[in-house]
Amino acid sequence: MTMQVVHTTGEVRELVRQARQAGKRVGLVPTMGALHEGHLSLMRGARADTDFVVISIFVNPTQFRPGEDLEEYPRPLEEDTKRAREVGVDLLFAPDSQEMYPDGFVTYVEVTKLTEGLCGASRPGHFRGVTTVVTKLFNIVQPDAAYFGQKDAQQATVIKRLVKDLNMDIEVKVLPTVREVDGLALSSRNQYLSPAQRQAARILYQSLERAKTLVEEGERNSAKIIQAMREMIGSVPSAEIDYIAIVHPETMEEVARIEREVLVALAVHIGPARLIDNMLMKPD
Ligand code: PAJ
Repeated sequence: MTMQVVHTTGEVRELVRQARQAGKRVGLVPTMGALHEGHLSLMRGARADTDFVVISIFVNPTQFRPGEDLEEYPRPLEEDTKRAREVGVDLLFAPDSQEMYPDGFVTYVEVTKLTEGLCGASRPGHFRGVTTVVTKLFNIVQPDAAYFGQKDAQQATVIKRLVKDLNMDIEVKVLPTVREVDGLALSSRNQYLSPAQRQAARILYQSLERAKTLVEEGERNSAKIIQAMREMIGSVPSAEIDYIAIVHPETMEEVARIEREVLVALAVHIGPARLIDNMLMKPD
């Protein structure tokens, strides 16, 4: 079956209703487009376990703060459509802002606590925008399963909690981070990097690998690991650290001593791009 591209919630509802009537399980992959292998891996995951794969492409204004890259964010819809079709997506939903936020819109969904640290601290209001738009997409599509990337670890944790707390009957699947050969996590924002900045950007993954080695060697003190990462990143002139944190993967609370699995997460500005990455690690 060929992929359909629609722009209104009414069309999505009708096509999903038909799929369901035919007994199909529905999978949803929410994205902001500029699709790369990270996004495509989620679509392949959805393709493997559901019968009707819906993806959304919407650069969600409520999750951007004033002064962030909402206007600059790439929107190559034609290329995205081609990629989605090639991986076997059934329905591509690409609404405009009026469709998602019509005049008079005043309702938001907020996950507290888990959104206080890490990216939530640097980007106040960001997760409120994410959880609001994801709730809307869940309500529009009503998928059986929804797919998110470990690349945005805090986002994935927040969405799992949202689904649980609001009794949404949706299975949330979190799939591994897809990386370039040199370790850089794929991101639509990597496009902002000059060749020299692209080289500098390797430091995110390198510092995570260093942290992992330290944990493997027996280091249990989070502050020491963070300090080692800071020194590495500090030696790259174009890199400016936003945060480095070692947290509990579910509560997102900082962990001083590494006794069980932790999430090591960081955000670093490299020229015009704010890049994030993370790695789960556990002591032997
Ligand atoms: P976006 O940044 O387009 O990412 C869409 C999905 O792709 C997210 O679940 C993200 O974690 C995943 N992803 C991005 N890069 C990845 C990589 N290198 N490997 C694996 N997965 C990757 O995240 C958003 O959009 C938005 O916040 C959204 C959830 C769509 C709400 O607007």
